[in-house]
Formats: sequence, C-alpha cells, structure tokens
Amino acid sequence: TDLPSLIRALPKAELHLHIEGSLEPEQMFELAARNNVALPYDSVEDIRAAYRFNNLQEFLDIYYQGMSVLLTKQDFHDLTYAYLKRVHADNCRHVEIFFDPQGHTERGVAFSDAIEGIFDGLEQGKKDFGISSHLILSFLRHLSEEEAFETLEQAEPYIDRILAVGLDSSELGHPPSKFERVYAKAREKGLKSFAHAGEEGPPEYVYEALDLLKVDRIDHGNRALEDDALVERLVAENKYLTVCPLSNLKLCVVDDLKNHPLKTMLNKGLKATVNSDDPSYFGGYLNDNYLRTAEALHLTKDDIVTLVKNGFDGAYLTAERKAELM
Ligand code: ADE
Ligand code: ZN
Repeated sequence: TDLPSLIRALPKAELHLHIEGSLEPEQMFELAARNNVALPYDSVEDIRAAYRFNNLQEFLDIYYQGMSVLLTKQDFHDLTYAYLKRVHADNCRHVEIFFDPQGHTERGVAFSDAIEGIFDGLEQGKKDFGISSHLILSFLRHLSEEEAFETLEQAEPYIDRILAVGLDSSELGHPPSKFERVYAKAREKGLKSFAHAGEEGPPEYVYEALDLLKVDRIDHGNRALEDDALVERLVAENKYLTVCPLSNLKLCVVDDLKNHPLKTMLNKGLKATVNSDDPSYFGGYLNDNYLRTAEALHLTKDDIVTLVKNGFDGAYLTAERKAELM
C-alpha cells in the first residue's frame, strides 16, 4: 500500500487536542443561534477568513472569543461528540483531550456544566464509535496561580475521572515556575502532570516543566532542539512529546512544513507523536497532520509506524485496552 493509505488505515491515538479548538465555524453559528449569542462574523467564510495568525497570541484572542457560544451542558456534549465523530473517520481509537475550564467559568458558565457535558460526549463517543478517552484539565497560564488553585478545587468532585493537569495559553512571560505549587497539589491528588513547553518559549521553560512541574509528557517541545543536553535528557527520561505540525505552521512556529522538526526529533531518538491541537483553527484533523507532514518531510513507512506506535505508548491506556489496540 502507498503511504497515504497506510496513514488512513492504521488505528491511531490523539494526545494533544483542545476540545474548544475543535469547534467548527458551522457549529459555532448553530450554537450562537441556539444561545442568542452575537458573533462578530457574518458567515462561515467570514470566520475562516479570520483564521490567519502571525503567532500564538493572535490565535488565542480568536479562540477565546470563539468559545463564547458554549454555554450549556448540551453545548459541551455536542462539541465533544462532533470531534469524536470526525476523528472516528480518521481511524482514531483513543484520545486524551484538554479542556480549558477557566475559559468558561470566567464567562459565568458553571464548571460542572462544562465538565459533565464533555464527559457525556466522551461516553456517547465510546458507545457509538468505540473510542476510549481521557480528559486533561488545563490551566490558563496567563492567569494567576491562585486562580489555578481555585480551578483545581472545582475539579475535586470529578478528580477520579481526570487524567492529568495541563498548562496552556500564552507561553512567553508565563514560565512553568509560576505554577509549581498548584502542580504539586495536583500530583498529590493523583493527577498526571503535562505542560505546553517550548512551543514559543525557550528551552529553559522545558527544563522548568521537567524540574519544577515534574511533567510526565511535554506538549509541543519544539524549542528543546536548541539545547543538546536537554534533548539527551528527554531521550534518557523517555519523555513523550505531543507534536502538532499544522498548528506549528499556522502559528508561525515553523515557516514551512518542509522545515518542521518532526523527522529530526525521531532521528535524535525523541518520542514524538503527531496531533492536531486545534483542528478547526489550524486546518486539519489527525490524518491531515500525518499526511501533510509525511509529504513535506518525505517520511517513510517506518517513520509512520513509529509515530503511530509512539501515540499509543505515550498514552495512558489500560492494559486491556492496550492489548486490544496494539
Ligand atoms: N490553547 C489552545 N491551543 C494552544 C496552543 N497550541 N498553545 C497554547 N495554548 C493553547
Ligand atoms: Zn495545545
């Protein structure tokens, strides 16, 4: 079989996906109408035309505005279910998704409505598509550590159903060190620890994520490649990197997919995985990320098999589920 057929046919996992970033313009309009929310766009084309970003912050401004249509438990269910339906078509069998509770509680949405709606959507997706899943609670790093503590407190009734904490939003100026105490508390509660690091931020932020947040996985990690000792450490400690090629292109982390570091990461022995980040905003779901990167970087079948395997190995699958999938 050819490479695109192999990519489409292989069962895959997705480990870096912000559920709010899967909100398609059509669904944004539908929810805006249902909830009587005014949008600053006249049409779906108008929305898509606004998705041109020079950096992470330009994206984030549009992303937080987009999520304003999400108000009810049903909205969060519908959003989550639509994502699972879409990646089922990509042969995705396991997902570990982020949500940004502070993006919702800040607007007056109850934490319980957001998380329970997402859980309902995940459950329905498991029934209808056989997709297993975990949820990751992500803190907005442009907000204070105090606010992160409040968010962790709100998560208490659901703590056994949450896999990990994550750290996202504006990276530059908001280093991992800002969240050292709240991560310690999350780990005490039994949560895994993930953080976006080295997307726009320097290698020092990746060191901080390892040393201070004691992360189990690094989200992105591109700029770790600037520091050979750091790369050696990530390899030695078997840290998985959740890499997002089309996101990196849209946010100008790379100027061209041909210059994307994914192949270099594999060559250096790093445990890279392929993911879509915010597929509605970045123009591609899981298979699109594999297909376009494979073409741009001339990836081989072995590379694809390694990347797909890394996705399952880097995931937190139960032993039974792992036996089913691998
Ligand atoms: N929130 C959603 N997507 C993000 C990304 N790629 N980086 C940081 N914060 C985000
Ligand atoms: Zn992300």
